[in-house]
Amino acid sequence: MIVLGIESSCDETSASIVKDYNILSNIIFSQEIHSEYGGVVPELASREHQKNIAYVIDKSLLKSNTKIEDIDGIAVTYGAGLKGALLVGLNFAKGMSIALDIPFIGVNHLEGHLYSNIMDNKEIKFPFISLIVSGGHTQIWRVNQIGNYDLLANTVDDAAGEAFDKGARLLGLSYPGGPEIQRVSENGDPSYIDFPRPSVKKSKYNFSFSGLKTSLLYKIKQMDKNIVKKNIHHIAASYQEAIVDTLLDRIKRISKEEKISQISIAGGVAANKRFREKSEILSSKNNISIYFPDLNLCTDNAGMIAMAGYEKLHNGIHSDLLLEPNPNLSL
Ligand code: KG4
Ligand code: ZN
Repeated sequence: MIVLGIESSCDETSASIVKDYNILSNIIFSQEIHSEYGGVVPELASREHQKNIAYVIDKSLLKSNTKIEDIDGIAVTYGAGLKGALLVGLNFAKGMSIALDIPFIGVNHLEGHLYSNIMDNKEIKFPFISLIVSGGHTQIWRVNQIGNYDLLANTVDDAAGEAFDKGARLLGLSYPGGPEIQRVSENGDPSYIDFPRPSVKKSKYNFSFSGLKTSLLYKIKQMDKNIVKKNIHHIAASYQEAIVDTLLDRIKRISKEEKISQISIAGGVAANKRFREKSEILSSKNNISIYFPDLNLCTDNAGMIAMAGYEKLHNGIHSDLLLEPNPNLSL
């Protein structure tokens, strides 16, 4: 069976071909237009998707040596995400579904991130803990089975990726901020500034990252501009360390309390080098197995959507042409 995957929920236009559970192509067009604005501009994102979607799909067919008439189904993200951006992919998928007379499957973007990990680490067994950590989400789920999830922790304000993006902006770095902070931090001292490791009152596990960003703002304001410039690698490294430590603290505590030692991490922030390094230390000290997806499957891509859709189609599930985009879709 061959499934075409389409992803357009935020600022990546992506298409993928999956055949018999193997990703044959995964073409990702990252919209650079947003970098000068310090964040994703929704209207521009929709227009960029519109401009590139046909090209990206055509390229994924070519790269995988697949003829369009050989596709058995189309998997497409229908939420969560930006409504206008989602509409582009969803309507394209519906049009192709009618034209080719094949089913289309609406896929939850978060379930896609979950799949990025399951398909890359076949040894993961249910139940396991999943941390989905991206620009829009910082959630920890207990994954009992595919389709059966319990939410254990959520952010009460900014997502961790958003904290990277907003922090980068304060430091004069471009968007997306995560890779930029990682790059600048390379030779920095993570103990240069002792940023708070934020927690949420009255909640055991929830995250709150907006105070951390404010703390960075105040630190920078207190410091002489030249000192900030000279020590930007130390400041960035300290800020990155606070985010990473906060994520690892919850993983450790939840793993212990839930008595589950298999943890999967997914989403854009899972690409972070320091996060991966410190996870390895946590994992070996506490006898926890922590799984990260391949780097190119961390950030938004259609391969993970095609995989999730493939599984649904395999189980006889597909969607109705009246399916609408759902910007706030949860797992
Ligand atoms: O999963 P994703 O591509 O899109 C969403 O669903 O949000 O995640 C994008 C987020 C951005 O906030 C970006 O700054 C962050 O992931 N990110 C990183 C890294 N690469 C991407 N954060 C930290 N370190 C990275 N290497
Ligand atoms: Zn995502």
